[in-house]
Amino acid sequence: MIDIGTGGGERLLELSSDARQLLGVDPDPEVIGRARELAADKGVTSVHFETGTGTEILDRFDVVIDRHAPFATTVVHRLLRPGGRFVTQQVGEHNMKNVRESFQLEANAFAPISPEMFVKAGFIIERFDEYDVDYVIHDMDSLVFWLQALDVAHSDFGGFDSERDADAINRLLSTSLTGDGVVTNEHRYLLVAAKPG
Ligand SMILES: C[S@@+](CC[C@H](N)C(=O)[O-])C[C@H]1O[C@@H](n2cnc3c(N)ncnc32)[C@H](O)[C@@H]1O
Repeated sequence: MIDIGTGGGERLLELSSDARQLLGVDPDPEVIGRARELAADKGVTSVHFETGTGTEILDRFDVVIDRHAPFATTVVHRLLRPGGRFVTQQVGEHNMKNVRESFQLEANAFAPISPEMFVKAGFIIERFDEYDVDYVIHDMDSLVFWLQALDVAHSDFGGFDSERDADAINRLLSTSLTGDGVVTNEHRYLLVAAKPG
């Protein structure tokens, strides 16, 4: 199995007992370094990490996965053996809708994936879901910590400055504060596609 855009390997290492051999690739050498360290710390030998995007890999895999990272359908198709599966979860264009509105950020115009793009690339769609999950931030310190941790590269959100963004945070609190804290939405797509055997 290969994981495109694997990041620091935290997620892939959780799957280490589910596959015989796993490869994680990411173009960022820093996160690949961290992933290798984490694998060594955990004593996991069945998971390997390489710097790259998958375009440079010549092997064929039973499964290609991608969680929240860019990919090309042509590359995924080439990486799979006939009968292999691609499984991806992608962040939707309406993610954190109320937060984006409070910060007056433009909504993303296009859905990140569609069944049509996979059919066009020669896949058979086995599952396609679109859904929202509540994400609750319980207190003010956590809200500020979370907003500061977001960045454009990873979340399409440009960080947070308490002085600059005071009005935005007040707008968010006025529309979205509940008894549990501030509630926003995680908008996600999930797709499973097969390469015909
Ligand atoms: C939001 S992180 C997701 C990390 C991991 N998949 C996870 O779920 O925790 C996106 C990752 O995609 C990587 N990335 C950026 N451009 C890429 C590309 N063209 N191909 C593959 N991965 C890419 C980034 O370096 C980053 O580690």
